[in-house]
This record gives sequence, C-alpha cells and structure tokens, in this order.
Amino acid sequence: MTKTFNWGIIGPGRIAHKFAQDIGHTEHARLHAVASRSEDRARSFAGQYGASYAFGSYEEILGCPDLDAVYIASPHTGHYEHTLMCLRAGLPVLCEKPFALNANQVREMIATAREHDTFLMEALWTRFLPTTLKALELIGNGAIGQVLAVKADFGFRAPFDPQGRLYNPQLGGGSLLDIGIYPVFLALLVLGYPDTIKALAHIGTTGVDEECGMLFRYSDGRMAHLHSTIRARTKTEAFIYGEEGAIHLHTRWHEPTSMSLVSNEGRPLDFHFDWKTNGYSYEAQEVMRCLSSGLKESPAMPLRFSLSLIALLDAIRAEIGLVYPEESE
Ligand SMILES: NC(=O)c1ccc[n+]([C@@H]2O[C@H](COP(=O)([O-])OP(=O)(O)OC[C@H]3O[C@@H](n4cnc5c(N)ncnc54)[C@H](OP(=O)(O)O)[C@@H]3O)[C@@H](O)[C@H]2O)c1
Repeated sequence: MTKTFNWGIIGPGRIAHKFAQDIGHTEHARLHAVASRSEDRARSFAGQYGASYAFGSYEEILGCPDLDAVYIASPHTGHYEHTLMCLRAGLPVLCEKPFALNANQVREMIATAREHDTFLMEALWTRFLPTTLKALELIGNGAIGQVLAVKADFGFRAPFDPQGRLYNPQLGGGSLLDIGIYPVFLALLVLGYPDTIKALAHIGTTGVDEECGMLFRYSDGRMAHLHSTIRARTKTEAFIYGEEGAIHLHTRWHEPTSMSLVSNEGRPLDFHFDWKTNGYSYEAQEVMRCLSSGLKESPAMPLRFSLSLIALLDAIRAEIGLVYPEESE
C-alpha cells in the first residue's frame, strides 16, 4: 500500500484525540478531515493534527473530497445514526464500540453497508492488538489444551456526572456498554455464543448499570465469569483457562503490552510487545488493508461477530432490566 490513506473523524472527543495521534504514527495514513457539532472545535482539532478540512456539522463531511474512510467517535447513541449517514453516502466506516445501542440498530447498519456495497467495521481495537493475536495463536496451537473457561474484569472509578456519557441514560450510559463489552468480547472470541446467560447489576440513581456481574455457560460445560464497574478500580485482568494451563492477559488486559502462558505446574512464559502508539494504529491498519484489498468487511472482526456481540449485550441487559430511553419511546 503506497497511496496515502485519508481519514476523517466524526465527534472529536477524548478517544478521537488518541486515534488522531495514532494516525499520525501510522504509515501511509493521515488525518484529512474532522467534523464536530462546533466549527471552533473542528478547527482547533484539525489544526492540532494537520487535517486539511474542518467541518462545523457532521453532515458536511459527506461532501469532503478525497476522503477514504470515516472513524465515528461520537457517544454510543450517535453510532447508529452517524454510521448510516456515512454508509448512505458511500463512505467506508470504522465505528467505535459498542457498534450501536442494540442488535436491531446493528442489523440495519449491516444491511445498509451491504446495500451500498461499502466497508463497515466495529472499532474493537483489542481484537487487533499483538497480545490478542498471540493468545489466539497459543490456543490454536494447543498450548493450554482444551479451553474450559474465561475470567475477565474491567473496572475504574468514574467521577459521578449525571450528564456525562457514562452515567446519562440518554447517552447510553452504564458500565456494560462502555467497558463490560471487553470481557464479553473476550468470552465470545474464545468460547463463542453461550447457551445460558445470567447477569446481576447495581442500577444507580440515573438508571444505568454502575456495576454488572455476568456468567455464561456453554452446553459442553465451558464457562465465562465476567465483571464490569464504573464504581471501583479493579485489577482489569483476563485469564483463559484450559486443561493444560492458562493464558494470563496482564492488567489492563484490554490494552496490555505483556501476557503469560502459565503451565499447570505454575511455570510462566512471558511475552512482551513494544508498541509505539496508543494501540489504535492496529485497527486503522486493518481497515486500510481491507480497503486496499477490496474487502467490505474485516475477516478478523466480521460483521456477524459484531452482531453476536451486541446480541449478547442485549441479552445481558434483558437480564438486568436495563432499557434506554430511546428504546422505550
Ligand atoms: N476504543 C477505546 O478504547 C475507547 C475509549 C473511550 C471511548 N470509546 C468509545 O468512543 C465513543 C466516544 O467516547 P469518548 O470518551 O471519546 O467521549 P467524549 O469525550 O464525550 O467525546 C464524544 C464526542 O462526540 C461528540 N458528540 C456528539 N453528540 C454528542 C452528545 N449528545 N453529547 C456529547 N458529545 C457528543 C462530541 O464532539 P463534538 O460536539 O465536537 O462533535 C464529543 O466530543 C464512545 O462510544 C466510547 O464507547 C472507545
């Protein structure tokens, strides 16, 4: 790939800054355009990262010349609408996690991508990190034997802000969709879709899950034990247990630079990976690789996987009784 790939960003918030920094360190990639609800914010973001175009509304990016793909970094509740808008204009999309609020929205996003023959991928960056690739390779090589269980958590203390996207139900708040998605993703990746799903949550004063505990059981006896919380900092580690040993993804496991293969006798074999970026360059490279090969979805993060992931999140939400305002209208 020698052509310079022109990225656009919708929703220049916290994660968009990290993504833009990584685009600056990704070969053959540049930030070309940014769209904000505010022209000032768009100009300031574009100036910071050397983008050629700054738009004061999201719609304007659709007419941007020479744009190769759009990264959608708005809050969860914007993903569906902003993805559909880009796909209908024929623009390839990398959309932040969770892909949308629920499976119905994701189904429509996938149908729209197919109807417009346009690339679409969920920005589940952990899928593309060297540690995840190594874990899958070790499992595939039988290093831990038959996989029996996954145990993973993700917790941090988020200052209480009822208007902020983590606590506000209007913005799809709660621990599950924001960070619980990572342990659920790992269980789905390694064990597949469960046969039984159980969950309990603490629903806070704003009506979203501030903490969620999940148990998955598979008909052949495998299990997943998962936890997310925005009330407390937890170890945020993941373990994949097999008959012959375990894979330990070190803290914080969704973005680790190290991991261990631990034998049943307790001997660890450590792996270290030295990244030069925030870790978002790997997913960006995957999009660029897919588009340069004419693919409409990523073989590593296919749309059917994203649909299963959101269906699992829906099933957990049904267990904990969490319905978002726009779903009950
Ligand atoms: N992959 C990761 O590691 C990772 C990490 C953090 C977050 N995320 C995901 O990225 C998304 C954004 O998270 P963030 O932490 O970057 O959020 P954020 O800092 O609040 O930024 C979101 C941006 O979206 C725009 N926006 C559009 N409608 C909005 C609304 N109604 N309320 C507030 N902002 C609105 C705003 O930009 P303008 O007003 O300028 O348009 C805002 O700056 C979330 O879906 C989250 O799950 C992913």
